[in-house]
Amino acid sequence: MTGASTMRFSLLAAVLVLAWTGAAEAQGSTYGLGRTPTDEELHPWDEAIGPMGEGLPPGSGTAEQGAVIYQRRRCGECHGPTGAEGPAPRFVGPLQMETYPAGTAGHAGQNFPGRGISNFPFAPLIWSFINKAMPLNQRGYLTDDEIYSLTGYLLYLNGIVGETDLIDARALREIEMPNRDGYVPPPPWKPGMRKAEVK
Ligand code: HEC
Repeated sequence: MTGASTMRFSLLAAVLVLAWTGAAEAQGSTYGLGRTPTDEELHPWDEAIGPMGEGLPPGSGTAEQGAVIYQRRRCGECHGPTGAEGPAPRFVGPLQMETYPAGTAGHAGQNFPGRGISNFPFAPLIWSFINKAMPLNQRGYLTDDEIYSLTGYLLYLNGIVGETDLIDARALREIEMPNRDGYVPPPPWKPGMRKAEVK
């Protein structure tokens, strides 16, 4: 482009911008484009749940109900009929450091998940894990109430809640997990760091 045509081009651009702003002003604050996002788009089913239960939906259940759902939804086919047999991570018994040794399987040496229910530092994360990932390859079809019941059941198997305790967002927030102080958050990411380096 020569100097003159660049100038003409910039002038044209300026005129177009002015015309566009004028049109926008004439229309007021709406451009007639797009639409209001739906509630599902603002809060998708697999929305992140914070460790303190931020974002947990309404609903509730009990371990007693969870035991039935555990059978009906066939969790035992992978985790064992009573949750203690595997082959997928066992829900009861000793912590499973051998299942995912530090630094493997994308867990970057963190002490959850895949290390046993009682090793989750915050109970809402169990709800979140089931909601996002289980049953493996069929995620997304459990109801919120079913997930509360299943979470209650897994906590009950580990002696953390009673069989008929009501498990809802508030209860999950208030549960003091045995590993509450054992979780070491990864170091803050800094530009140039390839991944979190865990000591
Ligand atoms: C097809 C096999 C399969 C089925 C069915 C299945 N799971 Fe899993 N589950 C897995 C595997 C594999 C993992 C480990 C995934 C990982 O850590 O990345 C896992 C991990 C989990 C964890 C995390 C455990 C921990 O200690 O970190 C929970 C909780 C869980 N499953 C709950 C359930 C529930 C509840 C159901 C039934 C609704 C279910 N799963 C059905 C295979 C399965």
